[in-house]
Amino acid sequence: MDIPSWPQADEREAELLRAVLDSPQWGGFHPFIGEFEQSFAAYQHCRHGISACNGTVTLELALTLLDIKPGDEVIVPAISFVATATAVSRAGALPVFVDIEPYSFNIDPERVVEAITPRTRAIIAVHFGGPLARMDALQAIASERNLQLIEDAAHAHGSEWNGKRAGSFGVCGSFSFQNGKVLSSGEGGMVTTNDDEFAERAHSFANQGRVKGESFFKHFHLSSNLRMTAFQAAVLIAQFERLPDQIQRRTANAERLKRLLEDVPEIVWQQVPAEVTQNSYYLLPARLRNARLSRDDFHQALTSAGIPSTPFYPFPLYGNPLYQEPGTCRAMPCPNAEACVGDAFWLSHVLLLADEQTIDEAARHIRQAVGVLK
Ligand SMILES: Cc1ncc(COP(=O)(O)O)c(C=O)c1O
Repeated sequence: MDIPSWPQADEREAELLRAVLDSPQWGGFHPFIGEFEQSFAAYQHCRHGISACNGTVTLELALTLLDIKPGDEVIVPAISFVATATAVSRAGALPVFVDIEPYSFNIDPERVVEAITPRTRAIIAVHFGGPLARMDALQAIASERNLQLIEDAAHAHGSEWNGKRAGSFGVCGSFSFQNGKVLSSGEGGMVTTNDDEFAERAHSFANQGRVKGESFFKHFHLSSNLRMTAFQAAVLIAQFERLPDQIQRRTANAERLKRLLEDVPEIVWQQVPAEVTQNSYYLLPARLRNARLSRDDFHQALTSAGIPSTPFYPFPLYGNPLYQEPGTCRAMPCPNAEACVGDAFWLSHVLLLADEQTIDEAARHIRQAVGVLK
């Protein structure tokens, strides 16, 4: 299988990295940082972008600035990468895990309502694999109950809900530029927001409590250094130039693959709501339904054929050893999350950058894996 490598770089990254190397500023005060913050935030329909060293500290920053503290509860989906929940725990608050919808893999707004208590302060919506969670419903719940809505948009660079981009719905969005992401600098992150005051506080928090226009050695708030380096920004500027074309290519290939397999009822692809006007495919998740083969055998067959597949997370977030201690979290009933860890898988966005012949070959292998192992 002719699968492209990831991450990808060419002379453009080399040229921008060279410019940083030749400059006297390799750290977080190089002009590339502000340049990338502005252009990426605008792309996500936000007035402000605050870059950081990864997409974990951006979540932690968001919770700190919203004054989430011990005694508070924050609602998170049972299916996500662990950082969505640990950011809550590290703030001293209680993560409350709620179920996902069975086929979109995103947080179910009805389950969110059931989990709200007088201690609830915030909801973190994760846009799993690319498509946005149901933002209309989540925004309505948050505003009716006076809760903060944070978007963990680590998977959703360029994704839209009714023409509005990820990271522009909640008080803030949190992006990751970690190695495998569709916009990558190996490590990296950004907070996006349309709230001017939140942006100012976030800039300050990421910069040792400094305040713009004040002395470099005058620190106004207890905070930290979350800055990304100029090398990360250089790589991101180059990567970002390719993102729109890559989104188009991934979308066309995902649609082609799904079309080629539409007569295979055992594979139920991620359900993408009609409101998702652009899906920036980070993952192509699916569930195996009524198949006689196990999901793990199916995954093995794909892997042997050279298709980049992952057998989902091993357990819902609350199943991690970290959350076995009593009092470390509250888990609502999550039958959909429990089912998905047994029968779902995802294909990497890298497959979707391949040429059409490779997509056709992948479809043949997937069809064969379903058939052969039956
Ligand atoms: C949903 C989600 N949130 C947060 C993160 C954390 O991002 P980072 O690895 O940049 O710290 C990730 C990273 O994979 C993620 O997938």
